[in-house]
Amino acid sequence: MKLDKSERRSILVFAILFVLLVLVFVYTVFTWRMDNTQEFVTSITKEDRTKKGENNEDINIFVAMTQKESWPGTDANGKSTIGAEYDGVIFNNSGKNIVDWSMTIYMPKNKNGEPIPGTFDSSWNGEYTNNGDNITFIPADYLNVIPKNEEKTYGFVMYAGTNLDFSEFEICGYYRTILPEYPGFWVATVGFLIWLTWVVAWAVMDARARKLKKQKAHDEKIIEETMQVFANFIDAKDEYTKGHSTRVSFYSQKIAKRMGMSDEEIKMIGYMGLMHDCGKIAIPDDVLNKKGALTEEEREIIKEHTTRGGQMLENFTSLPGIRDGALYHHERYDGKGYPQGLIGKEIPLYARIINVADAFDAMNSDRCYRNRLPKNRILSELRNNAGTQFDPEIVEYMIAMYQEGKI
Ligand SMILES: [Fe+2]
Repeated sequence: MKLDKSERRSILVFAILFVLLVLVFVYTVFTWRMDNTQEFVTSITKEDRTKKGENNEDINIFVAMTQKESWPGTDANGKSTIGAEYDGVIFNNSGKNIVDWSMTIYMPKNKNGEPIPGTFDSSWNGEYTNNGDNITFIPADYLNVIPKNEEKTYGFVMYAGTNLDFSEFEICGYYRTILPEYPGFWVATVGFLIWLTWVVAWAVMDARARKLKKQKAHDEKIIEETMQVFANFIDAKDEYTKGHSTRVSFYSQKIAKRMGMSDEEIKMIGYMGLMHDCGKIAIPDDVLNKKGALTEEEREIIKEHTTRGGQMLENFTSLPGIRDGALYHHERYDGKGYPQGLIGKEIPLYARIINVADAFDAMNSDRCYRNRLPKNRILSELRNNAGTQFDPEIVEYMIAMYQEGKI
């Protein structure tokens, strides 16, 4: 598939935007990964617990453990104990998610500063190990993550000689953010979606434009071939001027190109050149192909090929202006032409161009009654009739091309 200039430019823009989005994404992921390696250890005392909700920045994890209910009991040695349910809560006020965390719960101490012994009866939401001095709590998998601003509960039933007041804790774990918390993630994601929509829309429109272009080229080929066939009809009618329409079309296009006209205009003038003598179809063969001098009346009949051509092309609306070439190509710059005697710039530009091309071909091609004129003669004819028969500016282009050997 061959890409044109604007398509190549669009693809370059898409590629640059894509690279920028990838860079934003990579940078965001990198920042995120760095943040996630942050390990923490926090010791929390009873005093800290009381600060829950006060937004103290130094303490961003809060732990509480309270005795819910208790009942009397006896241990294996027959000694009286207190059984109690202890319910704990850990609240994450750190602004980040906490993962892979564990907690040390220090056993309350007696008057002598020794840890009070206790025996587990049951526990929930994790594994608890009591080494006498403290309890190590490893949460169950479903508690492994504490999202920011959320709390998790834990607890156990324990028998001890007294009511226990757990007030010292140590927590360790990792702060973990999730990628969508980073603005860069959304910039990259939304940017990519917009980019994708844009690329798809562009691809669809480009495919449509290609199809239209192909269709247009096909239509133009049909028009061109049809015109060429018509031109062959016209030229077949006049046995003196075989191939004349095709050559006038060619010269007219050369002049238009040299004048700096657009491709569309050049194409149009090519069609006009092919059709300029179409009115000859309406001229009787015995007049058109008469050998010998024409009478005044016959000359007038031949002149009618301009108006007849104009009428024939009047309804050719898909190529607007095509009739001008047929109708006005025998107008002269000095106003002495036919059929309307228009002067100078009153004559449509395309007709003035065809007028020069028509005269040039008449002089430059062999006819059955004479050979083509020599180059010097043609040049002097063109020069001498500049401003009278020909538009002086247009004929200059023709003279220059002819001198340069380009036609
Ligand atoms: Fe003509």
